[in-house]
Amino acid sequence: MGQPSALGEGIDSWNATIFLYNSALKEVKTKVEILNDEFQQIHQYNPIEYVKTRIKTAESIVKKLKRNGYESSIDNMVKHVNDIAGIRIVCSFTSDIYKLAEMIGKQNDLTVVSIKDYIRHPKDSGYMSYHMLVTVPIFMSDRVVKTKVEIQIRTMAMDFWASLEHKIYYKFEGYAPEYISRDLRECSGIVSMLDAKMLQLNNAILEAKEAQEEDRDVV
Ligand code: GTP
Ligand code: MG
Repeated sequence: MGQPSALGEGIDSWNATIFLYNSALKEVKTKVEILNDEFQQIHQYNPIEYVKTRIKTAESIVKKLKRNGYESSIDNMVKHVNDIAGIRIVCSFTSDIYKLAEMIGKQNDLTVVSIKDYIRHPKDSGYMSYHMLVTVPIFMSDRVVKTKVEIQIRTMAMDFWASLEHKIYYKFEGYAPEYISRDLRECSGIVSMLDAKMLQLNNAILEAKEAQEEDRDVV
């Protein structure tokens, strides 16, 4: 982790807080992996291509607090920064995103705090992803702490778009020339078409395979 001194508090309380977020990430990651394995058992395929987790750096936490008008303190970061622990799930197909989100929502020990569906409602930038803010209880020796984790679920194509857009955004410090923003929005439309087409193709493949197997059974 980065230097927590900017938060103006002791290293002990910083470490204790980050420990909670790390534990929460581990919990959610394991849950997601189990769901993926179960999916394999039922549907004979894995909906998840890969999962990435990250803890926000002290520097980014301080920046975000400042941007939103809060003083740097551990209390404020716990209250106001929702993406200290983040997990990104990358799927093959858009339909998998909704199936996974539903499965995650049904986990008894997870509380869904909020959902933002930037797939049905992309951002003006063209950004698409399904976001869930959840809390997971972390069992310490003397208490239970509900800890927030931001889950982002997207397809590989959406991830490709978001990582390029993120790079461009940083290169121009948020002020990209209009023609670049326009091209990015156009690419987002193409991503959406590609995802729809790939899903269609995958369904066609499954149907064709099923028909082939039925023919074989008849013979
Ligand atoms: P942040 O302050 O950016 O965290 O936004 P927020 O608290 O309003 O939440 P939101 O759900 O809009 O965004 C959360 C996260 O989604 C961000 O930290 C990014 O990882 C991602 N994200 C949101 N919008 C964009 C975007 O336009 N481009 C890219 N590349 N990522 C985005
Ligand atoms: Mg964020």
